Amino acid sequence: MDPRQPSDSTSLITRWMGIQDANTAGNVHGGTIMRMCDEVAGIAAIRHSGSRVVTAGMDRMTFLHPVFVGMIVSVRGMVNAAWRTSMEVGVRVEAENVHTGEVMHTSTAYLTMVALTAEGKPAQVPPVDPQTDDERRRLREAEHRRATRLREREEIVAARARGAG
Ligand SMILES: CC(C)(COP(=O)(O)OP(=O)(O)OC[C@H]1O[C@@H](n2cnc3c(N)ncnc32)[C@H](O)[C@@H]1OP(=O)(O)O)[C@@H](O)C(=O)NCCC(=O)NCCS
Repeated sequence: MDPRQPSDSTSLITRWMGIQDANTAGNVHGGTIMRMCDEVAGIAAIRHSGSRVVTAGMDRMTFLHPVFVGMIVSVRGMVNAAWRTSMEVGVRVEAENVHTGEVMHTSTAYLTMVALTAEGKPAQVPPVDPQTDDERRRLREAEHRRATRLREREEIVAARARGAG
């Protein structure tokens, strides 16, 4: 399979936050933002793989600032790394205060998306071919997150086998 550049998968969703997205105090639900992250990651992964995809996991999402009703939220995603059938999509969330023009970086998330065949089995994906220093750094960091994830899973399985609490 021919490698693809991370920028080929760049995807963006922009939405104005309404009352349906928030609690009675006007704070936007974390789930609203997470859903946008999932959607943009899916689009980026589809662009990279040319297949349908499912979300296998989301790593440690943090919310750095509250988002309020009336703000414009932009969620941008790009495939950072691709392995056999899975891809890591890095997602950056920004919220814009329309009155002041201030734009805040409110979240970063990393999602693992898996490409599927028409029969619903994991499907091979093209490798990524990073072009810039930032893209090479994101690829290195994605490899690190994957290694950490796999090591953690192995440690938990081993601890369960030993009967450790
Ligand atoms: C994701 C899924 C297709 C993986 O199927 P599987 O039978 O475990 O397939 P495999 O063992 O061949 O793993 C396929 C890839 O998924 C990755 N993967 C599986 N579980 C994962 C997890 N929890 N986190 C990150 N990656 C995961 C594997 O590392 C592997 O990657 P690689 O091929 O690049 O090395 C399957 O678990 C699934 O369908 N899950 C539900 C997905 C879904 O419905 N998401 C929406 C949420 S409602």
